[in-house]
Amino acid sequence: MKNLSSYFFIGAALFALCGMVWGIQMSATHDHSLSPAHGHLNLLGFVGMAVFGTYYALAPNAAGSKLATVHFGLAILSVVVLVPGIALAITENGEALAKVGSILALLSMVLFTVVVVRHRIPA
Ligand code: HEM
Repeated sequence: MKNLSSYFFIGAALFALCGMVWGIQMSATHDHSLSPAHGHLNLLGFVGMAVFGTYYALAPNAAGSKLATVHFGLAILSVVVLVPGIALAITENGEALAKVGSILALLSMVLFTVVVVRHRIPA
């Protein structure tokens, strides 16, 4: 996909904004009970997406592959499913979403591994 790296960074920035607002809300209310969900939003959503975006900027050949586009969709989906899933699990409202989200996050990383091994970083 053209501009794939930018899309990863846009996703990273949006997740970071949500994660930071959530962090401020937790601090203001002195209720840190959902901090693991906040942590995963920031780490998978911001740090993970930014690392992926950096790789695709360094390897435009990889960014052009179909697998990379699938990776982008899966990376977004995994955060969007896993983070509420963790919040639901913490509040004892079921673990199904967290389980699905964790598998999606794993699959996203498997795809990234395949893309990196296939395309590397051009010399
Ligand atoms: C405006 C910015 C942020 C605020 C106000 C904030 C606030 C908080 C608060 C109040 C906690 C709970 C601490 C505790 O109970 O001990 C927390 C935990 C955490 N935050 Fe943030 N945070 C912010 C940004 C970030 C960012 C950018 C990251 C990562 C890139 C991050 C990662 C984490 C992690 C990993 C935890 C621990 C989660 C856990 O205990 O399971 N936070 N944050």
